[in-house]
Amino acid sequence: MKFSVWVVNSFRRGQILGNGRLHRGLMRRSCGMSITLNREDAWKLLTTYTTSDSLLKHAMAVEASVAGYARKFGEDEQAWGVVALLHDFDYERWPTPEDHPFRGCEILREQGYPEWVTRAILSHADYSGVARISLLEKTLWACDELSGFIVAASLVRPTKSILDLEPKSVLKRMKDKAFARAVKREDLRQGAEELGLPLEEHIGNVISFMRERADALGLRGTL
Ligand SMILES: [Fe+2]
Ligand SMILES: [Fe+2]
Repeated sequence: MKFSVWVVNSFRRGQILGNGRLHRGLMRRSCGMSITLNREDAWKLLTTYTTSDSLLKHAMAVEASVAGYARKFGEDEQAWGVVALLHDFDYERWPTPEDHPFRGCEILREQGYPEWVTRAILSHADYSGVARISLLEKTLWACDELSGFIVAASLVRPTKSILDLEPKSVLKRMKDKAFARAVKREDLRQGAEELGLPLEEHIGNVISFMRERADALGLRGTL
């Protein structure tokens, strides 16, 4: 096909990065198979590439949050959960912005994961050049940093628990610049805005979704 046509089609498929760079591996043709998303396969893939307990807990925290929103929005809870579970699966092996999440998406494509999955995963990295457009993409981004911030806010409580953490206390922590300083407050605010939710409500939603999996996330604390 003519290069210009390929470029347009690739752009529609979200395969061209913002700076016009074609991502490695994109010239490879899709193998045409498609798979049904299921958690068991996603977990196997995640744990093949990720051994760090904190990264696994991060994956599960984002999964709980995104799957919770899927339920709330009437979307496919399992499919959204799988996307969230896999969004950082390549990070431990390839942590630089040159590689993550591009390497992971190549592997997902090879395994037959559909394009809407890889597109959503690419869009969680601001530098990928893939804009957040779908509700899933906005949800994934809005939950990624916030769930980590909520973990941190739970662990500094006397109970070390998410079960007695309230949104107001998270908002207060956001004002403390020294607390979890790596998390950009503006990103947390923007995430809620992109979902069309007041920040406090978004925080409350994510806390309640994560509470459902407090034990798996190690956030029951002493309660
Ligand atoms: Fe990431
Ligand atoms: Fe993440």
